[in-house]
Amino acid sequence: MSKRPWNFSAGPAVLPQPVLERVAAAVGSLASAGAWSGGIEQDLSILEISHRGKAFSAIHERAIELVHEVIGIPRDHRVMFLQGGASLQFCMVPMNLARPGKTACYVETGTWAKKAIAEAERIGPTRVVASSKDTGFDRIPDLPGEAALGDAAYLHITTNNTIYGTEYGELPSLPSGVPLVADLSSDIASRPMALDRVALGYAGAQKNLGPSGVTLVFGRKDLLDDSDPEHLPAYLRYRTFAKAGGLYNTPNTFGILVLSAVLEWLRDEGGVAAMGERNARKARKIYEVLDAHDVYEPHARPSDRSQMNVTFRLAGASEAERSERTSRFLADAEAAGFSGLKGHRSVGGVRASIYNAFPEAGVDAFVQFLRDFASRA
Ligand SMILES: Cc1ncc(COP(=O)(O)O)c(C=O)c1O
Repeated sequence: MSKRPWNFSAGPAVLPQPVLERVAAAVGSLASAGAWSGGIEQDLSILEISHRGKAFSAIHERAIELVHEVIGIPRDHRVMFLQGGASLQFCMVPMNLARPGKTACYVETGTWAKKAIAEAERIGPTRVVASSKDTGFDRIPDLPGEAALGDAAYLHITTNNTIYGTEYGELPSLPSGVPLVADLSSDIASRPMALDRVALGYAGAQKNLGPSGVTLVFGRKDLLDDSDPEHLPAYLRYRTFAKAGGLYNTPNTFGILVLSAVLEWLRDEGGVAAMGERNARKARKIYEVLDAHDVYEPHARPSDRSQMNVTFRLAGASEAERSERTSRFLADAEAAGFSGLKGHRSVGGVRASIYNAFPEAGVDAFVQFLRDFASRA
């Protein structure tokens, strides 16, 4: 087999090698993966068992337990594995949490936040209470004072902005009574977070938790159970899933198994505390080299830099020179064994996504590449 490249894909993203091996075994037969998937000893593939059977029930319960134990989601929050990606949550949040006479409030920090805002606007009164649009989404804007949230049905934030490479250092603490809703798609489980501040959170699994096709949704029981807008189709109500113990219809059974394997790997690596230290170190190493060479122009302000997605442009006297350098950088990187570095199509430049499973050795190799490229750029 040829050597695997260092995979900087923004998502679906790199998974830990031991997880890939365990999952491959479970695709052959659950029996061979028994000890890991909760003592299940069925000689059937994970791909061919009922989601209503005993074996999958055990896998599902174990996944929920791991989400609480490893990610630190409070025990008084419900945990559900939905489908439709984070994008469906952009709609389900306002559909379920809008309240008469109240306004859905949003912090606008980039492309994904804008998409969430656009969906909320289709549903009801919506207001952007803080934005970093005027500076090209290079920072996390300050929240307004309490008075500006007086009529808020909730406040929605995007904890890590995958495309622009900015991240909240700490989750905000809101005035009591205002539920904090968080899109945690690209930094969930990357470090310890005050998740008890989050009334409802969601994350597509495909960056830090597993494969695409599973969305982790968690929320305060009172908030989810009380919200039952009768005009909504059953599938779009949180309460439908809450009442069915998360299993309203056939979930992504395979994806939930992979998510469990990822969380067990994370726990064995020292959990979110150890991962947070490792991620901080990985990101720091890259930003230090970028800051040390004029040929690199990091996008985010230092105080709000993401530890998950490092975004930068190549310097140039003209757009043509920038573009030529960027193409050369990406081609040289690919040839040197680094894949997935092209910036999002909406912003260009370079993006190095270094989620939990991205090895520190890959960061060290990339740092050397950055130095070498700078010396010949
Ligand atoms: C922060 C954030 N939110 C939402 C999305 C959209 O996720 P999905 O493709 O699962 O709908 C992404 C995708 O990269 C993202 O990074």
